Amino acid sequence: KRPVGAPDKALARTVTKVGVLGAGLMASQLALLFARRLEVPVVLTDLDQERVDKGVGYVHAELDKLAAKGRLSADKAARYKASVTGSVDKSVFADADFLIEAVFEDMAVKKALFAEIEPIVSPEAVLATNTSSLSITEMAADLKYPERVVGFHFFNPVAVLPLLEIVRGDATDDATLATAFAVSKQLRKNSVLCSDSPAFVVNRLLTRFLGEVFATVDEGTPIEVADRALSPLGLPMSPFVLLQFVGIAVAHHVSETLHAAFPERFGVSANLARLVAAGKPGVYTWDASGQQTVDPEVLAM
Ligand code: 3HC
Repeated sequence: KRPVGAPDKALARTVTKVGVLGAGLMASQLALLFARRLEVPVVLTDLDQERVDKGVGYVHAELDKLAAKGRLSADKAARYKASVTGSVDKSVFADADFLIEAVFEDMAVKKALFAEIEPIVSPEAVLATNTSSLSITEMAADLKYPERVVGFHFFNPVAVLPLLEIVRGDATDDATLATAFAVSKQLRKNSVLCSDSPAFVVNRLLTRFLGEVFATVDEGTPIEVADRALSPLGLPMSPFVLLQFVGIAVAHHVSETLHAAFPERFGVSANLARLVAAGKPGVYTWDASGQQTVDPEVLAM
């Protein structure tokens, strides 16, 4: 069944090589997924060789784990490992036809990166962004071919969560969108077409939810009480564990984007801002046995 709003799939272009811009947490998970499901060469890049090596190392280690568990044949693991490479030199993207960025969530950084990549790749290469909240239209605005930019927003852990938000910017053309849907199908994701509105669909709700949980803490409810009270709702992770998993800086950034767009509907928790300023990864610490406790420094803040 064709997803609602997806254009004619005959317009989709074949993808023969993928470029991943970034080699961090999301980017390296994306490289792994693309290598396994598209079975084409995947090249990662980042600011320096150390980051690139770390990203490629993650992909190789995950493939080894899958092979060790018997989920992947040794042959396939070796083939996928060979297909994922990294380089700080962006000229390796010259023949890539599908590029996805998953770098720091900042419009200026993402725009500069696309502007740098555009002259290297063919005019038809798709430039996809894994942004969680930023405008696709604005990200494409200064490019020569803005019709090739599309939102392609995954959820962490990428290998497990089936949802993919595909976002059409004002300029995105049907061929780009059709290619995005075809790639999503190859990746075996359940894609939905979202409008280009701040934080799309899921993060709009998630930010509201986590924002309200934080608000109860701002108003005096202890962290563990709020977390424990909400866990029995059937969530796979309690709210504060999820917040740490998403990344507290990312959550804060999305809440700032939504606050700027809808000041009456979205606040930015003072405590969340304080945690980010203090460089805390979240509210919990875990000891070697996996015992979870609220970080005493957080309680003292
Ligand atoms: N990579 C690959 N596979 C992973 C993984 C990872 N990082 N983490 C867990 N898995 C796999 C495990 O291997 C296991 O697979 P198996 O059943 O085939 O052996 C399966 O997931 C279940 O893992 P576990 O048994 O270890 O643990 P749980 O059952 O507790 O599940 C979880 C872990 C999947 C992370 C689950 O807790 C979960 O779904 N949490 C909610 C995550 C969520 O809401 N993510 C969305 C965040 S919002 C976002 O990303 C958007 C951004 O823009 C902010």
